[in-house]
Amino acid sequence: MSANLIETKELKKVFEGETPTIALHDIDFTVRKGEFVAIVGPSGSGKSTLLQILGLLDAPTSGSYVLLNRDTSTLTDEELAELRNRTLGFVFQSFNLLARTSVLENVKLPLAYSKFPSKSWDKMAMEQISLVGLEHRINHEPSQLSGGERQRVAIARALVTNPDIIFADEPTGNLDSASGKAVMDVLIKLHQIGKTVILITHDRNVAKRAERAVLFKDGAIVWEGSVNGIPELS
Ligand SMILES: Nc1ncnc2c1ncn2[C@@H]1O[C@H](COP(=O)(O)OP(=O)(O)OP(=O)(O)O)[C@@H](O)[C@H]1O
Ligand SMILES: [Mg+2]
Repeated sequence: MSANLIETKELKKVFEGETPTIALHDIDFTVRKGEFVAIVGPSGSGKSTLLQILGLLDAPTSGSYVLLNRDTSTLTDEELAELRNRTLGFVFQSFNLLARTSVLENVKLPLAYSKFPSKSWDKMAMEQISLVGLEHRINHEPSQLSGGERQRVAIARALVTNPDIIFADEPTGNLDSASGKAVMDVLIKLHQIGKTVILITHDRNVAKRAERAVLFKDGAIVWEGSVNGIPELS
């Protein structure tokens, strides 16, 4: 059993078209259990493309991706969906909550696709809602919440199936700095309780709150190291 939850080798993604775009060039990327990694880099550098592949939402053009010791190229679509639902949680820039649906029901939603018995759903959802500090808002609908609160609901929803890895793509991108800080506080708490967190951000101050940074440029990793030493791109 490898301690790496995620291991890619020479991962490549080409979007075909009139002029094909090589979105990822031979990415070797490894994440160990319990790490908090920030992926930084300019717009168009391939960050979201990598996250889509790591999150089993898209397939690479070539190269290998081993997730939780499984070579993902050998899995059927059904097995990939099962692995994704059971082990991965996602948080996006736009919160993607159901309108006119309470916080509690939004957080419970992924459980409907899980194997957890329905009698435990309320308790499981409430645990994550308290983790993000929204117990006093369970009956509110998304339109009755602030942006930061909505994102914390989205995080609770990502956590409710007890995933091993949380992927967050620009989770603070639509938030003012105070709400963004509250969302980052929650991600830090997840890291502290042992979750593996992979955060995409173009904001270096946000990235500094992670543990390790990976800098992307033009579809390639150009630097990796401590979040305090992220170089400026020329
Ligand atoms: N479905 C697609 N079809 C064609 N090209 C795509 C597709 N998705 C992404 N691309 C291209 O791949 C490159 C990488 O895109 P990606 O979305 O990964 O960038 P990013 O680093 O996430 O940028 P941003 O910070 O703006 O979100 C870009 O040149 C983009 O135009
Ligand atoms: Mg992106």
